[in-house]
Amino acid sequence: MKIAHILLKNTFNIPKQVDRFSKFSPSPLSMKQFIDFGSANACEKTSFMFLRQELPVRLANIMKEIDFLPDKLISTPSVQLLHSWYAQSLMEIVDFLEKDPDDKKVLNMFTETLINVRNRHNNVVPTMAQGVVEYKETFGVDPVTNQNVQYFLDRFYTSRISTRMLINQHTLIFSGSTNPVHPKHIGSIDPNCDAVEYISASTPILCIPRFLISLSHVFYCVAAVEPNEPINIVYVPSHLYHMLFELFKNAMRATVETHENSTHLPPIKVRVSLGSEDLTIRMSDRGGGVPLRKIERLFSYMYSTAPSPVNDNARNAPLAGFGYGLPISRLYAKYFQGDLQLYSMEGYGTSAVIYLKALSTESVERLPVFNRSALRHYQTSTEADDWCIPSSEPKKLGKYDYNMQEERTEGKLN
Ligand SMILES: Nc1ncnc2c1ncn2[C@@H]1O[C@H](COP(=O)(O)OP(=O)(O)OP(=O)(O)O)[C@@H](O)[C@H]1O
Ligand SMILES: [Mg+2]
Repeated sequence: MKIAHILLKNTFNIPKQVDRFSKFSPSPLSMKQFIDFGSANACEKTSFMFLRQELPVRLANIMKEIDFLPDKLISTPSVQLLHSWYAQSLMEIVDFLEKDPDDKKVLNMFTETLINVRNRHNNVVPTMAQGVVEYKETFGVDPVTNQNVQYFLDRFYTSRISTRMLINQHTLIFSGSTNPVHPKHIGSIDPNCDAVEYISASTPILCIPRFLISLSHVFYCVAAVEPNEPINIVYVPSHLYHMLFELFKNAMRATVETHENSTHLPPIKVRVSLGSEDLTIRMSDRGGGVPLRKIERLFSYMYSTAPSPVNDNARNAPLAGFGYGLPISRLYAKYFQGDLQLYSMEGYGTSAVIYLKALSTESVERLPVFNRSALRHYQTSTEADDWCIPSSEPKKLGKYDYNMQEERTEGKLN
């Protein structure tokens, strides 16, 4: 009876809490702040007090945007399930607002709650992707929905990356034990992240049996500055690993498929360069390239042509096969103010370039905020193009048709 009462009370409270917390803007943290915060004077109480407010703010801001998706997408079982996860997590964290930060038991309970929240949200990406597949199969894709869903998912997945980042930092730093393999890491951050080392580590071993190529065929690396100096930045290795793994996977597949009948596979070359502003990693393959017209679509969630994967709950996110390799990798790069771009020469090959900020003070979280500008993005309607659409009819160049010209001008002015 009591449990039913609590559930009922919480259900009625959800929209109220979403409204309440979505009125605040999220507070982006810089990599330097993450590091300073996790170093010598790490204070669990301060972290607790920050997160019990900041996590509901980030969750509520993105929950507001779910409401602006097409109704038929919101009503898919997958999106309904996602919404229930977000609502439950929000309410569980909000519960701590009234609790005493000086009570050690409260702090322990909070860490446990965060771990539960993280686990609950493990399958957010495939579940959302499933919702998009269901929608697409029934209603097809039109440019307006595609633009709307693209805008939402970029923000939704960025928000998820950010809440996981906050949760990981708190749970790892205050779990009471240091990482035995990487004792110098601060939570999930490596203060001396050696890009070259991570490039070698992220060559997809998993892909080798799939594509039947050996590591020596694919890997060749040049450091642009002092070749013997490590190229270090402050970064989250798992994010870098994710991006590189996805790019390697794509480059390997393109290389193998393009050179199917050849005994020699051209290498995939990686060049790394550290400047005063950017750390840039360029991965170039000779996998036949992609026509310019298609490049933008490669980053689209709705136009993805990958077959629907089996949702087996396994922790194999980078191999999920939803066709989300590029868009999600770009979000990881953008999350700390970097970027990921593709430059391709159809008929030859592709270069994928990852840009990261060289300075930890400039690596600041890029977070979505729900406001009027965001709303406007969801209100775009189909408007006439303001660039001429080339006609497939041959033009009558010999004789100028004044009547038609007049009609056109009138039509435009009326
Ligand atoms: N280096 C490349 N050369 C040629 N085509 C590429 C390259 N990288 C990506 N593509 C094209 O872009 C598409 C989208 O890539 P993306 O990584 O987003 O998804 P995917 O590889 O199809 O699936 P997933 O990565 O989820 O397993 C690919 O299917 C492929 O057609
Ligand atoms: Mg891929």
